[in-house]
Amino acid sequence: MPHSVEFPELVNDLYLRAARGEKVERTPVWCMRQAGRYLPEFRAMRAEHNFFKVCRSPELATEVTVQPIDRYEGLLDAAIIFSDILVIPQAMGMDIEMVPGKGPVFGHPLRTPSDIEAFLVDTKPGFSIDVELKYVYDAITMARHRLAGRVPLFGFIGAPWTLLAYMIEGSGSKTFSQAKRWLWKYPKQTHQLLERITNLSIRFLIGQVNAGAQMLQVFDSWAGELGPQDFSTFALPYLKKIAEELKAHCPDVPLTVFAKGAHYALEELAVLPFDVISLDWTIDPVEARKRVQKAREGVEYNAAGRRRPVVLQGNLDPTILFADPEIIRLRTKEMIEKFGSTGHIANLGHGMMPDHDPEHLRVFLESVKDESTKLCCS
Ligand code: CP3
Repeated sequence: MPHSVEFPELVNDLYLRAARGEKVERTPVWCMRQAGRYLPEFRAMRAEHNFFKVCRSPELATEVTVQPIDRYEGLLDAAIIFSDILVIPQAMGMDIEMVPGKGPVFGHPLRTPSDIEAFLVDTKPGFSIDVELKYVYDAITMARHRLAGRVPLFGFIGAPWTLLAYMIEGSGSKTFSQAKRWLWKYPKQTHQLLERITNLSIRFLIGQVNAGAQMLQVFDSWAGELGPQDFSTFALPYLKKIAEELKAHCPDVPLTVFAKGAHYALEELAVLPFDVISLDWTIDPVEARKRVQKAREGVEYNAAGRRRPVVLQGNLDPTILFADPEIIRLRTKEMIEKFGSTGHIANLGHGMMPDHDPEHLRVFLESVKDESTKLCCS
């Protein structure tokens, strides 16, 4: 039974209305990795506690989730639960460390299919993803209370392909040669493992909604490593299953897909039942909107027989936050105008970086507010 009835009333529902494609008074804005190392208050917390300890402690995860909402009071329109996409591989039995300067490192990456049964525990009797990841659910419930309705809260997962790539590669990679070698060498086992990850991910997303998540995002951070043909084979069918199952279980919870680097697949993503498509900065918003609109022609999803609105999220190049404030303002204004006043959720084209200046993020957030208010009222 969802807890939602017990939560404080949502005061700022701008994100939820925009995600439904409704006309809004200004464009909502939030940022991927908005709770992160660019914030001194986050670094202070991390100096005391290791990364996964913060994830596993509902109290600490809640504190970090709320940090940017407090700092940018009134400027952010969504919070995202502090966690990581790698909690699923971890729950499946893989040991992962967050190594400073290096990112996630797996103790025993999957090297051959025999490692699957040797290392993974998710098919063992008694395994439950809801039990393994209860700490995420607890953090969501606590953060939702602590937010007190100021902004709605995102839950998230990593897409199956991105998680599989990490599980085989054992860390980030420039070439993903280990992971891609697997695809060619062991296609059958690859699909079986992608299916397993997909089923756990669906349960985990539903669990997050039951715990209090008000919207969801799927991060396919390594989508761009596949080409169109392999994305269709190894990524898309699993994204489709996730979207279909989530829309069947909780149709009113906005669901976003972020397939970084994969705008070659925009048409294919456009006809899946995701509510929002998040774009990286390498595609022009006008072109993206045209392509999504065209792909949806003749495709009906709405129960009323109406075509779904095109809602896009993004997509300022995160490195523009290294520029002077007047350039940030100008580029944000141009972005807002290109996306238009409806069907847009403002964001960067990828996450905040550790060397970003928090005050430059403030300039971006204020510019979104100013420029979109002008546009929406004109
Ligand atoms: O604020 C938020 O967006 C919520 C929290 C969040 C984190 N990771 C916290 C985090 C979210 C949504 C993620 C998702 C995530 N994790 C992705 C998908 C998004 C993307 O960036 O493409 C990926 C690929 C990961 C895996 C991961 N976790 C990497 C590659 C790293 C290292 C990054 C680096 O720059 O070193 C992490 C660690 C991580 N996850 C940090 C944060 C704030 C920084 C590490 C630290 O605190 O030491």
